[in-house]
Amino acid sequence: MSDQLRQAAAAVRDNAHAPYSQFKVGAAIRGASGAVYVGCNVENVAYPEGTCAEAGAISAMVAAGETELTEAYVIAGSPMPVTPCGGCRQKLAEFAAGEVPVTMATTGGVEQVTTVAELLPGVFNAAHMER
Ligand code: THU
Repeated sequence: MSDQLRQAAAAVRDNAHAPYSQFKVGAAIRGASGAVYVGCNVENVAYPEGTCAEAGAISAMVAAGETELTEAYVIAGSPMPVTPCGGCRQKLAEFAAGEVPVTMATTGGVEQVTTVAELLPGVFNAAHMER
């Protein structure tokens, strides 16, 4: 299963627009339907306008009509497996249960599996907004 996500994430990574950091990232997520959605980082000359690979994959999933993900895979050409940034952890938590596995990988073949809950302990969620 994860092989499919790895291939999808590695392929979309090639399309990353990362002329400023030279750090290409690919992400693939599986929606509850089983469909796979991909995203890559898209940087901008106005640096804060850049978007992460995870954000792109989540946008593709929501645009396709899905709001639940069951698996995520992120890959970069780094020496250590790339970990989602803080903002992306919150974005993943919006659409994933805590136990959803997140595989962080290098293009060299190193993989590290964690979960959404491990990535974002004490997550802010809808329960905090109850009155
Ligand atoms: N980046 C991602 O796309 N996902 C991550 O998990 C970590 C960081 C991107 C943002 C920016 O384009 C580049 O990597 C360097 O931070």
